[in-house]
Amino acid sequence: MTEFVKLIYGDRQYQLPVIEGTEGEKAIDISALRRQTGLITLDPGYANTGACSSDITFMDGEKGILRYRGIPVEQLAEYSTFIETSYLLINRRLPSPSELTRFSVLLNDNSLVHEDMRSFYENFPRSSHPMGILSAMVNALRSFYPEIQNLEEEINLTVTRLLSKIRTMAAMSYKISRGHKVVYPRPDLAYCDNFLNMMFDSPVKPYRIDRVVTTALNVFWILHADHEQNCSTTAVRVVGSARVNLYSAISAGIAALWGPLHGGANQAVIEMLSQIAENNNMAQVIERAKDKNDPFRLMGFGHRIYKTFDPRMKIMKKVCHRLLEKLKVSDPLLDVAQELEEIALRDDYFIEHHLYPNVDFYSGIVLRAIGIPTNMFTVMFAIGRLPGWIAQWKESIDDPNWKLCRPRQIYTGPQETAYVPIEQR
Ligand code: SDX
Repeated sequence: MTEFVKLIYGDRQYQLPVIEGTEGEKAIDISALRRQTGLITLDPGYANTGACSSDITFMDGEKGILRYRGIPVEQLAEYSTFIETSYLLINRRLPSPSELTRFSVLLNDNSLVHEDMRSFYENFPRSSHPMGILSAMVNALRSFYPEIQNLEEEINLTVTRLLSKIRTMAAMSYKISRGHKVVYPRPDLAYCDNFLNMMFDSPVKPYRIDRVVTTALNVFWILHADHEQNCSTTAVRVVGSARVNLYSAISAGIAALWGPLHGGANQAVIEMLSQIAENNNMAQVIERAKDKNDPFRLMGFGHRIYKTFDPRMKIMKKVCHRLLEKLKVSDPLLDVAQELEEIALRDDYFIEHHLYPNVDFYSGIVLRAIGIPTNMFTVMFAIGRLPGWIAQWKESIDDPNWKLCRPRQIYTGPQETAYVPIEQR
């Protein structure tokens, strides 16, 4: 039985339907609000606004729950692989063994990048940020792989190309930025191993695949694979709503993820921890984070949805300890991170503001142990989030209720004024 909310405005009363999700979340359906009342809603940052209905990912910020297609992320991190989780997100279910094999073969078949794209990489300034390069090069893929008429085939091929080539593009960017020989993908290596080999193999020092590192990378990418309507996913949905090609919509998602308040936080966390380690000024950094007049935020802390704990952080912290222990690596930044976490979690400001470590707080230490350069940390986030962006984009274009995204506004500028000719100004 449909619930309603009553809205009293002026001398009239309106009824707005309430819709309920699978997990009991409720929303007021305001799709007829302006037609009925002449009113719109205003919600800076959309903190109280649902943009869509979705059956991909469920998050409960109070209970620290994250599930992809209903499966808890803890179980996927323990038992799945990044490619299997990508298949789950995009195809709505776990693959059969033969489907998973075919998916892996398709990814391998599409892992090369058009040779003409190398000149693009070679002409970016060596100091270019890899996220700027990745966003530009993903957008350029349409030029090298033109649209085909059969829509279903076009989508499947584009999805496979993106998932496979993003690894090659990321590794290529790294090698060329260092003036090193580009390493091609190999048909005998699985997804994560292939990426690591393209990044670190060299003619003078062959890369040795380490199961411990491969497992850590699989978990890292599983934890980043989707997160419902976050900033970059919203960018993909909004740009995709104009019916532009998927490469361009993903390029927009990469650009949004680059921001230090979003995916760029993993790089910002390491820079912050390094600065604390160098200056031994943890107390001052915490005071700055608490100072309302200081725009500085404690990187890797806080979240729009998680107001108790980020389930991904708990898993990432375990991966971090296990990886450093097995690799016999001791990273002073891990000690700084743990001390900072302990102090902040005891501090009233962080408790009262519901600020807890998020996925980015320990992820950078895992990437450092693997050997990923700091300026590629957000690229690693982008590779992980790609299946989620794709799944969300597919859901939006398949949604009969999905429309071109075009929000309204409340105008606060001048009322009508006349043009003043320049000779009278
Ligand atoms: C990701 O959306 C997603 O799901 C994102 C993500 C994903 O997987 O896609 O989870 C990935 O982006 C994780 C978040 C990474 N960003 C950071 O770690 C950057 C540091 N965190 C903050 O910038 C902040 O916590 C946000 C942006 C993440 C969330 O901020 P909100 O929800 O917009 O909250 P807010 O800015 O309105 O802050 C509320 C209060 C403010 O204090 P008051 O003015 O109310 O007194 O909390 C304070 C803020 O000053 N606050 C912080 C803080 N985060 C919020 N104070 C100090 N340090 C912080 N990190």
